[in-house]
Amino acid sequence: MPPMEETGGLEPIERASRDELAHVQLERMRRSFAHAYARVAHYRAAFDRAGVRPEDLRTLADLERFPFTTKQDLRANYPFGMFAVPMAEVVRIHASSGTTGKPTVVGYTRADLDLWAHVMARTMRAAGVRPTDLVHNALGYGLFTGGLGFHCGAERLGATVVPVAGGQTERQVQLIRDFAPDAICCTPSYMLTIADEFARQGLDPGASSLRVALLGAEPWTNEMRSAIEARFGLDAIECYGLSEVIGPGVAAECVESKDGCHVWEDHFYPEIIDPASGRVLPDGEFGELVLTSLTKEALPVVRYRTRDLTRLLPGSARPAMRRIAKITGRSDDMLIIRGVNVFPGQIEELILKSPALSAHYLLEVSRPRHLDELAVRVEVRPELAQAGAAAWSRAARELEHHIKSYVGVSTQVVPVGPGTLERSAGKAKRVLDLRGRPS
Ligand code: DLL
Repeated sequence: MPPMEETGGLEPIERASRDELAHVQLERMRRSFAHAYARVAHYRAAFDRAGVRPEDLRTLADLERFPFTTKQDLRANYPFGMFAVPMAEVVRIHASSGTTGKPTVVGYTRADLDLWAHVMARTMRAAGVRPTDLVHNALGYGLFTGGLGFHCGAERLGATVVPVAGGQTERQVQLIRDFAPDAICCTPSYMLTIADEFARQGLDPGASSLRVALLGAEPWTNEMRSAIEARFGLDAIECYGLSEVIGPGVAAECVESKDGCHVWEDHFYPEIIDPASGRVLPDGEFGELVLTSLTKEALPVVRYRTRDLTRLLPGSARPAMRRIAKITGRSDDMLIIRGVNVFPGQIEELILKSPALSAHYLLEVSRPRHLDELAVRVEVRPELAQAGAAAWSRAARELEHHIKSYVGVSTQVVPVGPGTLERSAGKAKRVLDLRGRPS
């Protein structure tokens, strides 16, 4: 049977019923748990401590009895202690750089790379990329899973991939103009940086050849999606994933519905838990996403706590595969300002409602006099650059007012000129926490 990505249609499992899918999930999960228990000392010890054996997984509801896995577990077994196969069978290593401490190291067997290319090809097809398309890949290549993940997915789909990687924004614009790609892959914040570079060169990004952007690796809002779509005149499609689970390719949006990422549940099983108690929450409730890999060999993950906050929604364009709602942030991203929980995304949403302000912003938290203070540095839109101090100040006061009314914290909004804030070619840095630093 030819691979489905070559035939252009959906794979049979993408059309399966929920019952058929659940059957596949249980069988794969049992096999994966047995593999993890037999081969990884950490899992053996964790299962034993929880008093469960792989055979105790009789139905999917039994999953709740199994222990969580955390980033700390991976760090404690740094670098290769969580691998379930001999190093001779590991053909690729990636790693995610944490903000603190050692990176988290992940490994892939040949079969894992095959699976990854497969779910990435499925992701790209769902986003509307076709085998005849040219794909401009502006994600970072290297230990980060973004670049190579999309690269191998595009090749598996049969598209033509241009491995540009991130950075050198002027050159990105040049290559987009010269090669006329149909699709682009990058982070949402970098997509806006590329739009700004078009504008700086006096060019209209809307006149580019791009038809679809596959965006992910950082939280963003639907307001930001609208801004990107309006500037480029394309479909901006969300992709979700994390290195510990495989990389990008865990979940993706379908171009026909654009209503949240479908989790590729035949390979990754999602749960939502209360981050404080660890209790499993029913579908639809908001909490922390937990993922279990069903088919990975080198690094099987059992109930991995992603720290990403979202909720599970029923399938739509792929009826049996549940969706995740937009990630509102990470539980470790949440700022607590004078007791009020604040997520950068809430502020981003309000910034983008202002016709005067752009999506380039930085939240600066400090504690100058025993109390937390939050400053929002935000660039005014280029059209307003010459409008004068009074116009900038009016936009800033309005945003302060909206943040106070909708989020409940007092802030100081500092409008700055276009191009002032540092740009990243990858994940944008949205928070600078100066608390605890000597002033
Ligand atoms: O960021 C994988 C990836 C690359 C996904 C390119 C999509 C596109 P890590 O570097 O391990 O892997 O970071 C994973 O990034 O736990 C989320 O907090 C965040 N993240 C990834 N995709 C999204 C998204 C890659 N669509 C961490 N929305 C995850 C919000 C996202 N956050």
